[in-house]
Amino acid sequence: MNILAIETSCDETGVALLRATGGLRAPQFSVLANLVSSQIPIHRPFGGVVPNLAKREHLKNLPLLWEEISRHDPKFMKKINLITVTVGPGLEPALWTGIEFAKKLAKEYKKPLIGANHLEGHLYSFLLPAKIGMSDVHDPISRIFPATALIASGGHTVLLRMESFSKWRRLGETRDDAAGEAFDKVARLLDLPYPGGPEIERLAAAGDPKAIAFPRPMLREKNYDFSFSGLKTAVLYYLKENEEKRTKREFKCDVAASFQQAAVDVLVLKTMRAAEEFDARSVILCGGVAANGKLRNDMQHAAKKSGLSFFVPNNAYNSDNGAMIGAAGYMAHLRKKTYRLSAQGTLDI
Ligand code: KG4
Ligand code: ZN
Repeated sequence: MNILAIETSCDETGVALLRATGGLRAPQFSVLANLVSSQIPIHRPFGGVVPNLAKREHLKNLPLLWEEISRHDPKFMKKINLITVTVGPGLEPALWTGIEFAKKLAKEYKKPLIGANHLEGHLYSFLLPAKIGMSDVHDPISRIFPATALIASGGHTVLLRMESFSKWRRLGETRDDAAGEAFDKVARLLDLPYPGGPEIERLAAAGDPKAIAFPRPMLREKNYDFSFSGLKTAVLYYLKENEEKRTKREFKCDVAASFQQAAVDVLVLKTMRAAEEFDARSVILCGGVAANGKLRNDMQHAAKKSGLSFFVPNNAYNSDNGAMIGAAGYMAHLRKKTYRLSAQGTLDI
Protein backbone atom coordinates (compact mmCIF):
# COMPACT_ATOMS: atom_id res chain seq x y z
CA MET A 1 0.00 0.00 0.00
CA ASN A 2 1.35 3.45 -0.98
CA ILE A 3 0.68 6.18 1.56
CA LEU A 4 0.96 9.97 1.43
CA ALA A 5 1.34 11.34 4.97
CA ILE A 6 1.08 14.89 6.26
CA GLU A 7 2.23 16.26 9.64
CA THR A 8 1.63 19.81 10.91
CA SER A 9 0.98 19.40 14.65
CA CYS A 10 3.72 21.72 15.89
CA ASP A 11 6.71 23.47 14.33
CA GLU A 12 7.72 21.00 11.61
CA THR A 13 5.87 20.69 8.32
CA GLY A 14 6.22 17.08 7.13
CA VAL A 15 5.14 15.41 3.90
CA ALA A 16 6.15 11.79 3.31
CA LEU A 17 5.62 9.00 0.83
CA LEU A 18 5.76 5.41 2.13
CA ARG A 19 5.21 1.89 0.94
CA ALA A 20 3.73 -0.27 3.71
CA THR A 21 3.38 -4.06 3.73
CA GLY A 22 3.18 -6.94 6.18
CA GLY A 23 -0.07 -6.19 7.99
CA LEU A 24 -0.66 -5.66 11.69
CA ARG A 25 1.53 -8.51 12.90
CA ALA A 26 4.67 -7.79 10.93
CA PRO A 27 4.51 -4.28 9.45
CA GLN A 28 7.32 -3.15 7.16
CA PHE A 29 7.89 0.25 5.66
CA SER A 30 9.89 1.69 2.78
CA VAL A 31 10.24 5.43 3.02
CA LEU A 32 10.23 6.84 -0.53
CA ALA A 33 10.36 10.49 0.55
CA ASN A 34 10.36 12.22 3.92
CA LEU A 35 10.44 15.98 3.52
CA VAL A 36 10.52 18.10 6.67
CA SER A 37 10.56 21.86 6.75
CA SER A 38 11.58 23.06 10.19
CA GLN A 39 10.33 26.36 11.56
CA ILE A 40 12.81 26.48 14.43
CA PRO A 41 14.60 29.67 13.26
CA ILE A 42 11.22 31.45 13.03
CA HIS A 43 10.08 30.56 16.56
CA ARG A 44 13.53 30.84 18.16
CA PRO A 45 13.36 34.61 18.92
CA PHE A 46 10.15 33.95 20.91
CA GLY A 47 11.70 31.15 23.01
CA GLY A 48 9.00 28.66 21.96
CA VAL A 49 6.41 27.83 19.30
CA VAL A 50 3.94 30.64 18.44
CA PRO A 51 0.76 28.90 17.17
CA ASN A 52 -0.25 31.54 14.61
CA LEU A 53 3.24 31.79 13.17
CA ALA A 54 3.28 27.99 12.93
CA LYS A 55 -0.03 28.10 11.05
CA ARG A 56 1.29 30.71 8.61
CA GLU A 57 4.46 28.70 7.93
CA HIS A 58 2.60 25.41 7.43
CA LEU A 59 0.29 27.12 4.91
CA LYS A 60 3.36 28.32 3.03
CA ASN A 61 5.37 25.09 3.27
CA LEU A 62 2.75 22.42 2.54
CA PRO A 63 2.34 23.20 -1.20
CA LEU A 64 6.12 23.61 -1.55
CA LEU A 65 6.86 20.18 -0.07
CA TRP A 66 4.09 18.56 -2.09
CA GLU A 67 5.45 20.14 -5.28
CA GLU A 68 8.94 18.92 -4.44
CA ILE A 69 7.66 15.34 -4.32
CA SER A 70 5.75 15.88 -7.59
CA ARG A 71 8.92 17.16 -9.25
CA HIS A 72 10.61 13.76 -8.81
CA ASP A 73 7.55 11.87 -10.02
CA PRO A 74 4.78 14.05 -11.51
CA LYS A 75 2.33 11.10 -11.56
CA PHE A 76 2.94 9.94 -7.98
CA MET A 77 -0.60 10.74 -6.82
CA LYS A 78 -1.89 8.04 -9.21
CA LYS A 79 -0.04 5.39 -7.19
CA ILE A 80 -1.29 6.58 -3.80
CA ASN A 81 -3.76 4.22 -2.06
CA LEU A 82 -4.26 6.20 1.14
CA ILE A 83 -3.73 9.74 2.43
CA THR A 84 -3.25 10.22 6.16
CA VAL A 85 -2.90 13.37 8.23
CA THR A 86 -2.22 14.17 11.90
CA VAL A 87 -5.44 15.20 13.66
CA GLY A 88 -3.94 15.51 17.17
CA PRO A 89 -2.58 16.03 19.69
CA GLY A 90 -0.92 19.36 18.91
CA LEU A 91 -1.60 23.02 18.29
CA GLU A 92 -5.06 23.28 16.77
CA PRO A 93 -4.38 26.16 14.32
CA ALA A 94 -1.37 24.19 13.05
CA LEU A 95 -3.27 20.88 12.87
CA TRP A 96 -6.05 22.46 10.79
CA THR A 97 -3.64 23.50 8.04
CA GLY A 98 -2.59 19.88 7.43
CA ILE A 99 -6.15 18.57 7.69
CA GLU A 100 -7.52 21.10 5.17
CA PHE A 101 -4.61 20.45 2.79
CA ALA A 102 -5.16 16.67 3.01
CA LYS A 103 -8.92 17.05 2.47
CA LYS A 104 -8.30 19.12 -0.66
CA LEU A 105 -5.90 16.51 -2.08
CA ALA A 106 -8.25 13.63 -1.22
CA LYS A 107 -11.12 15.37 -3.03
CA GLU A 108 -9.10 16.40 -6.06
CA TYR A 109 -7.49 12.97 -6.59
CA LYS A 110 -10.42 10.92 -5.24
CA LYS A 111 -8.32 9.10 -2.62
CA PRO A 112 -9.35 7.77 0.80
CA LEU A 113 -8.23 9.96 3.71
CA ILE A 114 -7.86 8.94 7.36
CA GLY A 115 -6.75 10.79 10.49
CA ALA A 116 -3.60 9.77 12.37
CA ASN A 117 -2.63 10.16 16.03
CA HIS A 118 0.69 11.98 16.46
CA LEU A 119 1.61 9.91 19.55
CA GLU A 120 1.01 6.67 17.64
CA GLY A 121 3.34 8.10 15.01
CA HIS A 122 6.10 8.39 17.62
CA LEU A 123 5.25 4.93 18.98
CA TYR A 124 5.58 3.18 15.59
CA SER A 125 8.55 5.24 14.36
CA PHE A 126 11.08 2.59 15.45
CA LEU A 127 9.74 0.51 12.56
CA LEU A 128 10.91 3.02 9.96
CA PRO A 129 14.05 2.05 8.05
CA ALA A 130 17.30 3.91 8.55
CA LYS A 131 17.71 4.83 4.89
CA ILE A 132 15.35 6.37 2.37
CA GLY A 133 14.06 3.69 0.00
CA MET A 134 15.18 0.78 2.17
CA SER A 135 12.80 -1.75 3.63
CA ASP A 136 14.01 -3.15 6.93
CA VAL A 137 13.79 -6.83 7.66
CA HIS A 138 12.51 -6.44 11.16
CA ASP A 139 13.33 -8.35 14.30
CA PRO A 140 11.01 -11.30 14.84
CA ILE A 141 7.80 -10.28 16.56
CA SER A 142 8.61 -12.71 19.38
CA ARG A 143 11.38 -10.36 20.53
CA ILE A 144 9.11 -7.32 20.88
CA PHE A 145 5.94 -8.13 22.84
CA PRO A 146 4.97 -7.62 25.55
CA ALA A 147 6.84 -4.32 25.40
CA THR A 148 7.21 -1.33 27.68
CA ALA A 149 7.16 1.87 25.61
CA LEU A 150 8.18 5.34 26.71
CA ILE A 151 7.04 8.27 24.57
CA ALA A 152 9.00 11.36 25.66
CA SER A 153 8.40 14.50 23.62
CA GLY A 154 7.90 18.23 24.04
CA GLY A 155 4.24 17.84 24.94
CA HIS A 156 4.02 14.30 26.38
CA THR A 157 5.71 11.79 28.64
CA VAL A 158 3.74 8.55 28.59
CA LEU A 159 4.58 5.01 29.63
CA LEU A 160 2.68 2.15 27.96
CA ARG A 161 2.52 -1.59 28.23
CA MET A 162 2.03 -3.00 24.72
CA GLU A 163 0.65 -6.48 24.05
CA SER A 164 0.91 -6.04 20.29
CA PHE A 165 1.00 -3.33 17.64
CA SER A 166 -2.70 -2.77 18.20
CA LYS A 167 -3.26 -3.34 21.91
CA TRP A 168 -1.75 -1.35 24.74
CA ARG A 169 -2.47 0.06 28.18
CA ARG A 170 -1.33 3.36 29.61
CA LEU A 171 0.72 2.81 32.78
CA GLY A 172 1.54 6.41 33.66
CA GLU A 173 2.24 9.88 32.38
CA THR A 174 3.62 13.20 33.52
CA ARG A 175 1.61 15.12 36.09
CA ASP A 176 3.05 18.47 35.03
CA ASP A 177 5.78 19.27 32.50
CA ALA A 178 6.72 16.82 29.75
CA ALA A 179 10.36 15.67 29.65
CA GLY A 180 11.12 17.74 26.53
CA GLU A 181 9.41 20.76 28.08
CA ALA A 182 11.71 20.42 31.12
CA PHE A 183 14.76 20.43 28.81
CA ASP A 184 13.37 23.51 27.03
CA LYS A 185 12.65 25.38 30.30
CA VAL A 186 16.03 24.58 31.87
CA ALA A 187 17.71 25.67 28.62
CA ARG A 188 15.93 29.01 28.90
CA LEU A 189 17.20 29.39 32.49
CA LEU A 190 20.71 28.86 31.09
CA ASP A 191 20.09 31.48 28.35
CA LEU A 192 20.19 28.80 25.65
CA PRO A 193 18.01 29.08 22.54
CA TYR A 194 14.87 27.06 21.69
CA PRO A 195 14.58 24.06 21.37
CA GLY A 196 16.53 23.40 24.53
CA GLY A 197 17.04 19.63 24.36
CA PRO A 198 19.90 19.56 21.84
CA GLU A 199 21.49 22.65 23.46
CA ILE A 200 21.48 21.05 26.92
CA GLU A 201 22.90 17.84 25.49
CA ARG A 202 25.73 19.76 23.82
CA LEU A 203 26.66 21.62 27.04
CA ALA A 204 26.25 18.50 29.15
CA ALA A 205 28.87 16.69 27.07
CA ALA A 206 31.49 18.99 28.59
CA GLY A 207 30.09 18.92 32.16
CA ASP A 208 30.13 16.65 35.19
CA PRO A 209 26.81 14.81 35.70
CA LYS A 210 27.65 14.29 39.38
CA ALA A 211 28.55 17.94 40.07
CA ILE A 212 25.11 18.86 41.51
CA ALA A 213 22.71 16.48 43.25
CA PHE A 214 19.43 17.55 41.63
CA PRO A 215 16.30 15.67 42.79
CA ARG A 216 14.94 12.61 40.94
CA PRO A 217 11.20 13.39 41.28
CA MET A 218 8.79 10.52 41.99
CA LEU A 219 11.50 7.92 41.58
CA ARG A 220 10.55 6.10 44.77
CA GLU A 221 6.80 6.29 44.30
CA LYS A 222 5.25 3.00 43.26
CA ASN A 223 3.23 4.41 40.36
CA TYR A 224 4.40 5.03 36.79
CA ASP A 225 3.73 8.75 36.67
CA PHE A 226 6.41 11.39 36.17
CA SER A 227 6.89 14.97 37.39
CA PHE A 228 9.50 17.32 36.00
CA SER A 229 8.45 20.73 37.27
CA GLY A 230 10.15 20.21 40.68
CA LEU A 231 13.41 19.36 38.94
CA LYS A 232 13.18 22.52 36.85
CA THR A 233 12.51 24.56 40.04
CA ALA A 234 15.53 22.96 41.73
CA VAL A 235 17.68 24.15 38.81
CA LEU A 236 16.14 27.64 39.08
CA TYR A 237 17.00 27.87 42.81
CA TYR A 238 20.49 26.52 42.26
CA LEU A 239 21.12 29.19 39.62
CA LYS A 240 19.80 31.90 41.96
CA GLU A 241 22.08 30.72 44.76
CA ASN A 242 25.05 30.82 42.42
CA GLU A 243 24.23 34.01 40.53
CA GLU A 244 27.88 35.08 40.33
CA LYS A 245 28.89 31.92 38.38
CA ARG A 246 25.91 31.99 36.04
CA THR A 247 27.74 33.17 32.95
CA LYS A 248 30.75 30.86 33.41
CA ARG A 249 30.82 28.12 30.79
CA GLU A 250 32.17 25.40 33.07
CA PHE A 251 29.41 26.09 35.62
CA LYS A 252 26.71 25.99 32.91
CA CYS A 253 28.08 22.70 31.58
CA ASP A 254 27.92 21.14 35.06
CA VAL A 255 24.33 22.35 35.57
CA ALA A 256 23.32 21.00 32.15
CA ALA A 257 25.02 17.63 32.75
CA SER A 258 23.58 17.23 36.26
CA PHE A 259 20.07 18.20 35.15
CA GLN A 260 20.25 15.86 32.13
CA GLN A 261 21.43 12.97 34.33
CA ALA A 262 18.58 13.54 36.81
CA ALA A 263 15.96 13.58 34.02
CA VAL A 264 17.49 10.53 32.30
CA ASP A 265 17.71 8.58 35.60
CA VAL A 266 14.00 9.08 36.27
CA LEU A 267 12.99 8.12 32.72
CA VAL A 268 15.22 5.02 32.64
CA LEU A 269 14.50 3.73 36.14
CA LYS A 270 10.72 4.10 35.90
CA THR A 271 10.64 2.50 32.44
CA MET A 272 12.79 -0.41 33.61
CA ARG A 273 10.71 -0.91 36.75
CA ALA A 274 7.59 -1.13 34.58
CA ALA A 275 9.36 -3.53 32.19
CA GLU A 276 10.24 -5.77 35.13
CA GLU A 277 6.83 -5.66 36.79
CA PHE A 278 4.98 -6.37 33.55
CA ASP A 279 7.38 -9.04 32.26
CA ALA A 280 8.32 -7.14 29.13
CA ARG A 281 10.46 -8.70 26.40
CA SER A 282 11.52 -5.31 25.09
CA VAL A 283 11.78 -1.61 25.79
CA ILE A 284 10.74 0.92 23.14
CA LEU A 285 11.95 4.52 23.45
CA CYS A 286 10.53 7.26 21.20
CA GLY A 287 9.54 10.93 20.85
CA GLY A 288 11.74 14.01 20.38
CA VAL A 289 13.65 13.40 23.63
CA ALA A 290 14.73 9.97 22.31
CA ALA A 291 17.22 11.94 20.20
CA ASN A 292 19.20 12.45 23.42
CA GLY A 293 22.32 10.27 23.27
CA LYS A 294 22.62 9.95 27.05
CA LEU A 295 19.02 8.74 27.35
CA ARG A 296 19.44 6.29 24.45
CA ASN A 297 22.68 4.92 25.90
CA ASP A 298 21.48 4.57 29.48
CA MET A 299 18.16 3.00 28.42
CA GLN A 300 19.89 0.57 26.06
CA HIS A 301 22.39 -0.37 28.74
CA ALA A 302 19.65 -0.95 31.34
CA ALA A 303 17.57 -3.04 28.91
CA LYS A 304 20.60 -5.14 27.97
CA LYS A 305 21.44 -5.71 31.63
CA SER A 306 17.94 -7.06 32.17
CA GLY A 307 18.16 -9.25 29.06
CA LEU A 308 15.56 -7.23 27.14
CA SER A 309 15.56 -6.12 23.50
CA PHE A 310 15.77 -2.39 22.96
CA PHE A 311 14.15 -0.43 20.13
CA VAL A 312 14.65 3.22 19.34
CA PRO A 313 13.93 5.07 16.08
CA ASN A 314 16.72 6.01 13.76
CA ASN A 315 17.66 9.59 14.62
CA ALA A 316 15.97 10.93 11.48
CA TYR A 317 12.58 9.97 12.91
CA ASN A 318 12.73 11.17 16.52
CA SER A 319 11.65 14.74 15.93
CA ASP A 320 8.33 15.28 14.19
CA ASN A 321 8.15 14.09 10.58
CA GLY A 322 5.70 12.83 7.98
CA ALA A 323 7.07 9.26 7.75
CA MET A 324 6.03 8.42 11.32
CA ILE A 325 2.52 9.67 10.52
CA GLY A 326 2.50 7.39 7.48
CA ALA A 327 3.26 4.46 9.80
CA ALA A 328 0.50 5.56 12.22
CA GLY A 329 -1.96 5.95 9.34
CA TYR A 330 -1.19 2.47 7.98
CA MET A 331 -1.64 0.89 11.41
CA ALA A 332 -4.85 2.87 12.12
CA HIS A 333 -6.19 1.72 8.74
CA LEU A 334 -5.43 -1.93 9.59
CA ARG A 335 -6.82 -1.56 13.13
CA LYS A 336 -9.96 0.03 11.64
CA LYS A 337 -9.38 2.90 14.05
CA THR A 338 -11.10 6.02 12.80
CA TYR A 339 -10.20 9.49 13.99
CA ARG A 340 -12.46 12.47 13.32
CA LEU A 341 -10.99 14.64 10.55
CA SER A 342 -10.82 17.75 12.73
CA ALA A 343 -8.09 19.24 14.93
CA GLN A 344 -8.04 17.57 18.35
CA GLY A 345 -5.45 19.41 20.43
CA THR A 346 -5.60 17.07 23.42
CA LEU A 347 -6.10 13.74 21.65
CA ASP A 348 -4.78 10.87 23.78
CA ILE A 349 -3.13 7.57 22.99
O1 KG4 B 1 8.52 14.91 19.42
P1 KG4 B 1 8.94 16.32 19.27
O2 KG4 B 1 9.74 16.68 18.04
O3 KG4 B 1 7.70 17.27 19.29
C1 KG4 B 1 6.58 17.00 20.09
O4 KG4 B 1 5.78 16.14 19.68
O5 KG4 B 1 6.53 17.60 21.18
O6 KG4 B 1 9.76 16.70 20.59
C2 KG4 B 1 10.34 17.94 20.75
C3 KG4 B 1 11.01 17.98 22.11
C4 KG4 B 1 11.52 19.36 22.49
O7 KG4 B 1 11.10 19.64 23.80
C5 KG4 B 1 13.02 19.22 22.40
O8 KG4 B 1 13.74 20.06 23.29
C6 KG4 B 1 13.20 17.76 22.75
O9 KG4 B 1 12.15 17.10 22.12
N1 KG4 B 1 14.50 17.27 22.27
C7 KG4 B 1 15.48 16.83 23.07
C8 KG4 B 1 16.60 16.55 22.24
N2 KG4 B 1 16.23 16.81 20.94
C9 KG4 B 1 14.94 17.25 20.99
N3 KG4 B 1 15.54 16.67 24.41
C10 KG4 B 1 16.69 16.21 24.93
N4 KG4 B 1 17.80 15.95 24.20
C11 KG4 B 1 17.79 16.09 22.85
N5 KG4 B 1 18.89 15.83 22.13
ZN1 ZN C 1 6.11 14.88 18.35
